[in-house]
Amino acid sequence: MTILATEIKAVITLFGATGDLAHRKLYPSLFNLFRKGFLADNFALLGTSRSEWSDADFQAKVRESISKVDEDQAGQYDAFVKHFFYQPHDVTNPEHYDKLNERIAELEDKFATEGNRLFYMSMAPRFFGTIAANIKSQGLLSDNGFNRLVIEKPFGRDFASAQELNKELTETFDENQIFRIDHYLGKEMVQNISALRFGNTAIEALWNNQYIDNIQVTLSEDMGVEERAGYYDQSGALRDMVQNHIMQVVAQLAMEQPLTFTDQDIRAEKAKALRSLRKYTPSEAAANFVRGQYAAGDNNNEYRKEDGVDPKSITETYVAAKLTFDSYRWAGVPFYVRTGKLLAGKFTRVDVVFKKPLIDIFATPANSNDQKLNNNVLTIYIDPTPGFSLTLNAKKVGQGYTTEPIDLAFSQSAEQKDLSPEPYERLFHDALEGNSTNFASWSEIADAWQFVDVIRQVWDHEEPNFPNYQPGSMGPKEADELLARDGRQWVY
Ligand SMILES: NC(=O)c1ccc[n+]([C@@H]2O[C@H](COP(=O)([O-])OP(=O)(O)OC[C@H]3O[C@@H](n4cnc5c(N)ncnc54)[C@H](OP(=O)(O)O)[C@@H]3O)[C@@H](O)[C@H]2O)c1
Repeated sequence: MTILATEIKAVITLFGATGDLAHRKLYPSLFNLFRKGFLADNFALLGTSRSEWSDADFQAKVRESISKVDEDQAGQYDAFVKHFFYQPHDVTNPEHYDKLNERIAELEDKFATEGNRLFYMSMAPRFFGTIAANIKSQGLLSDNGFNRLVIEKPFGRDFASAQELNKELTETFDENQIFRIDHYLGKEMVQNISALRFGNTAIEALWNNQYIDNIQVTLSEDMGVEERAGYYDQSGALRDMVQNHIMQVVAQLAMEQPLTFTDQDIRAEKAKALRSLRKYTPSEAAANFVRGQYAAGDNNNEYRKEDGVDPKSITETYVAAKLTFDSYRWAGVPFYVRTGKLLAGKFTRVDVVFKKPLIDIFATPANSNDQKLNNNVLTIYIDPTPGFSLTLNAKKVGQGYTTEPIDLAFSQSAEQKDLSPEPYERLFHDALEGNSTNFASWSEIADAWQFVDVIRQVWDHEEPNFPNYQPGSMGPKEADELLARDGRQWVY
């Protein structure tokens, strides 16, 4: 959707303005929207947190945060930071919201934002419900423009807590006003899955259990827990990566074609796809999920010896799983997914493995084709370099008739990559535009938690044999066995 720059008019109230995410991601993303013309005159950001900063202190911090975005655009820094203001504020104190409301009203007048208010919660999740309740009780909702809430992850730590949080939020905001961030949905190639599928007969016609053998989704990280150890040890890969990012990518791959390419229709199809994901019984969960924890390597401690990690921790730093859909399209096609820390590389990819031809007519003694036909594989490279490749079987040059796999490949040029917005930039823009396509709906989140909760319960009651994988590998051997028992293997 292309918009005119001046169409975005809003006061953004940011809770957690002195935090790490705001500094590293949110201010640079807003600056990108500004220098590209999506934000112009009619916007202001009111930063809040307990620190006693002045507007000038805040503007200096924002300036520091954007100083590396695009040094050629340094001339625009002053114009940009003039839209930033700060109010010391404790989110747990209802009286503080009165001052906030006053300042929002002043900014609305000053920047002619037509009463549009966007609230962004970039704080510890335990505050989300309190902030929403105070926004309502202290009268911060606008009655002459839009009210929207952008909320950071994690959205709960299981179904029950997510449901409770959702109940608290929906007492103040309607579902269509809530934008739940999953930054994977802001990635170019995740969004490209729809173009690839619904824009190409050659792909969509084959996108079902008649032609696809299995689909593999890999979110691989090459770093350990680093400074997030305290948070991570309470979370683990299942909550941190599978419940949200992996489920969202899987939903895009599995969904039916939406009636129209609008946020409501797309989210409805994704939610339907996740509803058809088979919810495992505890014994199915144990059989279809593999967990891992990294051992010591040349350059790292074993996970249990990392600073901030419980020395007896059973938190998983790796998950692999076989997912099954009970739908007409996907019956019989496993989706294998995996994610982990300290693996062989930092990349995200999807491998769609097609079935082999029913008969290999080349494998006859007469033409001595000793090379068996390969599965065609469509790979969607999400990170770090977005692109696609399609592996086909072709005739090998020369006498006789031997086949060999060849690759048709496309990868984004450095120039295209530069033009591609960062996930937070795209998501900020979409929330300001009111387009919720790339945000997770409650229904999707609820289904994903219900699916994941069963596995968590099984795992929490069994002592794993950790550590069980070497840094630099692609995870524990059980992850390979998960596919081998079906006569398959990971493409990568
Ligand atoms: N950082 C990341 O890379 C990252 C990535 C993905 C998701 N997230 C999510 O983004 C959110 C923010 O993360 P973060 O890393 O930026 O956290 P952070 O650095 O710990 O920042 C927390 C913010 O909350 C403020 N705060 C704490 N208690 C407060 C209170 N009672 N009243 C008002 N303000 C208060 C802090 O400022 P004062 O101390 O000045 O009050 C600070 O601005 C979290 O939901 C996190 O899960 C972060």
